[in-house]
Amino acid sequence: MELELERVDEIVEKNKEEAQKKSPLIPVLQEIQNTYGWLPEEAMKRAARKLGVSLASLSGVASFYNEFRLKPLGENHIVVCTGTACHVRGAPLLVAELERNLDIEVGQVTVDQKFSLETARCVGSCAVAPVILVNGEFHGNMTKKKISDLINELE
Ligand code: FES
Repeated sequence: MELELERVDEIVEKNKEEAQKKSPLIPVLQEIQNTYGWLPEEAMKRAARKLGVSLASLSGVASFYNEFRLKPLGENHIVVCTGTACHVRGAPLLVAELERNLDIEVGQVTVDQKFSLETARCVGSCAVAPVILVNGEFHGNMTKKKISDLINELE
């Protein structure tokens, strides 16, 4: 898939002043990630050139912060809430079930690129804890059984 790299130019232009003022580079990386869903190397190279910094500095910042993704997400992105309410209602078991079922660990993507798995702090739906999000869609009162059904459905 070809990336529309002109969007990097717009992002850099828009954030340049801010980036030069305070913690340089982070706003640019954040917006590139919001645009593409991760930080593709071509986009990083282009942004580094436009900002007049080395790719190594930009990559260094990107790999320092956990919020930045250096690999694309899977076709189906699963986020398990591990906030307090979800934690006490079994989120760790859900994480373990997903890791077992998908044969990956949190932060990884399956070999066939079909699934990626992450955790997040409270996603704001504690009343129906434990909660997972699949491609941005909320699923509350999750159980291991519901997870297996969901994965089967998505496969
Ligand atoms: S702790 Fe999971 S939704 Fe609030």
